[in-house]
Amino acid sequence: MAEFFLPKNSKVQKGKTHAATSNGKARNFKVYRYDPDSGENPHYDTFEVDTDACGPMVLDALIKMKSEQDSTLTFRRSCREGICGSCAMNMNGKNGLACTTAIEDCKGDVTITPLPHMEVVKDLVPDLSHFYAQYASIKPWLQTVTPTPSGKERLQSPEDRAKLDGLYECILCACCSTSCPSYWWNSDKFLGPAILLQAYRWLADSRDEMTGERLDDLEDPFRLYRCHTIMNCAKTCPKGLNPAKAIAETKKMMAQRQI
Ligand code: SF4
Ligand code: F3S
Ligand code: FES
Repeated sequence: MAEFFLPKNSKVQKGKTHAATSNGKARNFKVYRYDPDSGENPHYDTFEVDTDACGPMVLDALIKMKSEQDSTLTFRRSCREGICGSCAMNMNGKNGLACTTAIEDCKGDVTITPLPHMEVVKDLVPDLSHFYAQYASIKPWLQTVTPTPSGKERLQSPEDRAKLDGLYECILCACCSTSCPSYWWNSDKFLGPAILLQAYRWLADSRDEMTGERLDDLEDPFRLYRCHTIMNCAKTCPKGLNPAKAIAETKKMMAQRQI
């Protein structure tokens, strides 16, 4: 696997092999291990998993490994149905959600690493602090200056509501941002596709009254314009969203306000 695909603290060595705990159809999972408290370099452990005695998804295999072979194996998960975004990781070179990735769709030995190019907290857990700080920086909430009409809700037509389709479904899993080479090299300043899709979600909302300020905040050589239309983000998104399109729409709004 190319070096650039791995997490930042990687000089990966071979680690232990954990034998299967029963005798059905065995698959090998090569899992990235890193414990900063151990003082050891990162390594891959191989887990032999009896897939006849396991649920169908990669997350099921990870839970089985942790329950039966090595309780120190560390990964995030919550909903196990593709809505919380916690179990995002790289499986056989592709970012995705472990809970919606079928083991049978992974060819050969299944190599599992954390999301690429992120600092690693432990094993498969990336440090998303900077990603969340970038999310907070776009003020991801409705901003208004006028009083709420008739003292009740701010209404939105069905047509305006439909403009949020393809945006509101984002679960902030970070699969797209961590597949984007521009984000790998410039994540200190470039917001990346996930946060830019979220930023556009508020630009596209007919009820929001801070469009000008939001665009001002993005008008910067790095925050928005480091997107070079590489399109990995759209290919990777496990929810089928298209951050590249949201970025293009934002650039269009920037151009239109110059006219
Ligand atoms: Fe995840 Fe898709 Fe949202 Fe990116 S756009 S954070 S890949 S759900
Ligand atoms: Fe990156 Fe997607 Fe742009 S992969 S460069 S954000 S089109
Ligand atoms: Fe929630 Fe996978 S556990 S998206």
